[in-house]
Formats: sequence, structure tokens, C-alpha cells
Amino acid sequence: MKTKAFSIAKTFGLEGIPDELTVQGYQEGTPFVPRLDQHYLFRKDLLSDLLAWHMLGGTEGLYLTGPTGSGKSTLVLQVAARLNIPVHRVTAHSRLETPELIGHYALVAGSMSFVDGPLTIAMREGHWFLLDEIDLLDPATAAGLNGIVEGAPLVIPEKSGEMVTSAPGFCFIATGNTAGSGDQTGLYQGTLRQNLAFLDRFWMVEVGYPEMEQELSILTRVVPALPEELRKGMIAFATEVRKLFVGGQVEVTLSTRTLVRWAKMAEFFRPLAAQGKNPLLHALERALSFRAEPESRSALAEIAQRIFG
Ligand SMILES: Nc1ncnc2c1ncn2[C@@H]1O[C@H](COP(=O)(O)OP(=O)(O)OP(=O)(O)O)[C@@H](O)[C@H]1O
Ligand SMILES: [Mg+2]
Repeated sequence: MKTKAFSIAKTFGLEGIPDELTVQGYQEGTPFVPRLDQHYLFRKDLLSDLLAWHMLGGTEGLYLTGPTGSGKSTLVLQVAARLNIPVHRVTAHSRLETPELIGHYALVAGSMSFVDGPLTIAMREGHWFLLDEIDLLDPATAAGLNGIVEGAPLVIPEKSGEMVTSAPGFCFIATGNTAGSGDQTGLYQGTLRQNLAFLDRFWMVEVGYPEMEQELSILTRVVPALPEELRKGMIAFATEVRKLFVGGQVEVTLSTRTLVRWAKMAEFFRPLAAQGKNPLLHALERALSFRAEPESRSALAEIAQRIFG
């Protein structure tokens, strides 16, 4: 694949960066390049972490950690979408075993042949490999990937020990709600404490929820037709709910994912206003409140009442 230098400022829509600062990507896309989201807002600090890692060759793994719906997976996918980098994405779970990643024998056109798994394809082709929810993985399975994270060749025992060396461009990226040291909050059921030697092979990046100003810009991009006052009210609502959540007063919180869902629904349900219903509250129930306990629901309704009247 032919490479191409992309201007960082232009490609990621950032201000205050010299135009001549570039990053390498590919000239053309392939079916494995993620779909581009026009509304995506790049956060300068996170983007610079990801690009620094990419520019240094991505020879070590990259581990993005942070609460649910804060933008970990989409950051990776949207950077790849703009640089035309093909990505193989797998979501981990406790029963995921190495053959699912490496490949297995299967009946193909009447005979048994070895079908490469996503990790093997990414290594052969020099693509990015994204393992989401890595902290759900059995630590022993994860530790089995130690060598690959550092760029060592992959050995396929089922194919008489065939050795696959990673092509230039291959990178291993992981995301997780915990930093791999277990979950102290009890919110992320199923996450496991990971092997220290495995974690030692990654650059760590923390992805928290965006700042208020950034979330406001995200909403402006996603639902430009929604009046600004309402968008600001939604952010104010999110801020209050997050505070209550941190204080242990409600058991649900608003991720950026939920905020975006709420905004899209509110826009969609706007015609309900003609029937005397409040589209914003109608959407809020469906985006968030219906999964809250009864007491929390009334707390959420009170905040909404105060902010939106
Ligand atoms: N910077 C952003 N610009 C636009 N939308 C965003 C941004 N960050 C997050 N979102 C919205 O939040 C949603 C969730 O983001 P994403 O899937 O990246 O979260 P995550 O951190 O990987 O969550 P999880 O831990 O649950 O996998 C996205 O689909 C998008 O709608
Ligand atoms: Mg994710």
C-alpha cells in the first residue's frame, strides 16, 4: 500500500498546530478501514498521545483505559478512518481463546484448510489489531500474547509451527474500563486483574469523559438543529448526574455515549411536542432513566425539571 503524509491540523480539524506537521497514513482505503464519522471531535491531548505512539512505530502495545462510553474505541477507529489504516477489531470475553484470534482448521470447499484469525491477518498484512474490553480476557490467554504485543513472530502450531512475522504497520491496541489491575468500583462486572508482565508491554493512555466545552461541541456537531439552550441544559444535567453518581447518590451515570444517544433521540422525538409531550424528557427516559432504580428516577426527574422547566 502506498503511504501518504497527512497534515495533522487539516486531517483532524485541530487549531493551533502548524500545517506542515504531518503523520503517515495510506493513500487509499480498503474494506477494513473503519467508517469515518464526520461528527467526531478529536481531543488534542488524546490525539497527541495516540499519534506519538503511532509515529514511534507502534512497536509496543497501546492500552486505552477509562469509563464506559468515554471515547476509547472510537478514538482509535476515527484516527484509522482518517489515515486509511485497516483495523481488525475483536471484543474480548472471559472464554475467548487464542485460536479465535489466530485461526483454526475449517471445511472450505470440501476440504479442511487453515483459516487465519483476525490477529494473524493483521500481522500478515501490517494492519492495526484492536482488542476491546481486554480486561475481560482470562489473564493466562492475555499473557500468551506477550510476544505479539512486542512485535515478535507468531507461531501457529496447527500449521506445523508456521512462523508469521508481523509486516510493517502491524500494531496491537487494547481498550478496557479498568487499567488491568482489577475493578475497585464493582461497576465493571467480569473484569479480571491482568498479568503484570502482560501490562508492562503497553503504553497507557487515560480517556476520561470530555470537558464540558468539548461535550458541547460534540452535541453541536451531532444535533445542530437542537436549540443551543437545550444542548447547554443537557450538559448541565449530565454534570449534575455525574456528581451524584460519584457521591454514590444514584447508581446510573451519563457517559458521552448516553449523552449523544439522548440528543439524537430528543431530535427524533421533536414532533411529540405537538401532542403536548416533552421530547427531551421522553428521550431521557429511554436513553437513561429506564435503567435507574425508582429513587434515582425521581432524583433524575427533579434535576431535569429544574433545568428544563
Ligand atoms: N470525541 C467524540 N466525538 C464524538 N462522539 C463521541 C466522542 N467520544 C465519544 N463519542 C460518542 O460516544 C460513543 C461511545 O464511544 P466509544 O465507543 O469510543 O466509548 P468507549 O470508551 O470505547 O466505551 P466502552 O468502554 O463502553 O467500550 C460514540 O459512539 C460516540 O457517539
Ligand atoms: Mg469501547
